[in-house]
Amino acid sequence: MFEPLEIINSLSSCNTAYSSPSNIALIKYWGKHPVQLPANPSVSFTLDKCKTETRLKAEKTSGTLDYFDIEVVVDGKANEDFKPKIIHFFKRIEPYFNFLKDYRFKIETSNTFPHSSGIASSASGFSALAACLIKTEQKLAGDESHKLNLNKVSFISRLGSGSAARSVQGPLMVWGKHNDICGSQDEIAIKYDHIHPVFHDYQDVILLVDKGQKKVSSTVGHGLMNNHPFANARFKQAHDNMSALLIALSEGNLDDFIKITENEALSLHAMMMSSNPYFILMKPNTLHIIEHLWDFREKTGIPVSFTLDAGANVHVLFPNVHVTKVLELINTKLIRFCQNEHYICDNIGDGLKALS
Ligand code: DP6
Repeated sequence: MFEPLEIINSLSSCNTAYSSPSNIALIKYWGKHPVQLPANPSVSFTLDKCKTETRLKAEKTSGTLDYFDIEVVVDGKANEDFKPKIIHFFKRIEPYFNFLKDYRFKIETSNTFPHSSGIASSASGFSALAACLIKTEQKLAGDESHKLNLNKVSFISRLGSGSAARSVQGPLMVWGKHNDICGSQDEIAIKYDHIHPVFHDYQDVILLVDKGQKKVSSTVGHGLMNNHPFANARFKQAHDNMSALLIALSEGNLDDFIKITENEALSLHAMMMSSNPYFILMKPNTLHIIEHLWDFREKTGIPVSFTLDAGANVHVLFPNVHVTKVLELINTKLIRFCQNEHYICDNIGDGLKALS
């Protein structure tokens, strides 16, 4: 699908740099089959402020190596911990590039959000690195005048982490084949912008209930769907919720948006609670926050809602027009449920950016 480009410029060195954001799924990807193909379609808001900035320096080696020569620098310090993951990623993407063993790579990366925030950085991290690699490939293939091949970036990002395929563009991205979305496919995520203006400035305040390491790695988590008694019903539910959400997104129907996205968040956790082995990834404070949000919504009529990742943190979603009232709620009632009273304000964004 994405054949390697022929290398015509043997540049002695080549520098590229991109930032890429995190994303928050509204219809959840949970369950996959090899290699990194989703069991059901998903859609996410691309975020704006939570992002990874990556600089890639490629230097020509004197001959073709029989291994990947990679140096990783995180926040200005040499880092060996990420190397095995990145080498695994390079092995996976090797068939799609012609230069990975002819260059030595220095990857300098940092996140705009704290490492210990419990926010997954795999989506932003792999998509930023994929963008750098594809820009490098385009330069080596003499294709520099052309725009970055965003479809190949999504394809390669997916091979690092499934949700990374959805960080490339904004405001929303759909990943996985769905009958109602023309061009949707399992190999890449595509930009989705058939949305009502009420969603253009949507906010996501991430309440950090638990900043610890993920209790269940994503690989283990997705694996739990393989023999899950409710798997087929869940995959059908995701398709049905997607159909209904697309209508709510285009009509600006916030009541339906809230019902569908909260249902998705709780269904994701219900899958974890009913798998074998089973997990409870919410914390008591997660539930306290949800109860306060529901109470606030009922009393004020303000369309604020929540969604969850595979963890305890709560993403609070609402249109920007309500920001003052929602932040007041957070600062008076919800902040006490956050670890070290820590939360992050983000909003809907538009994906990758080239760095100077
Ligand atoms: C619950 O993308 O982290 O956040 O493909 O194994 O890297 P891998 O999994 P990952 O899974 C994300 C799961 C989720 C839902 C979602 O983002 O759609």
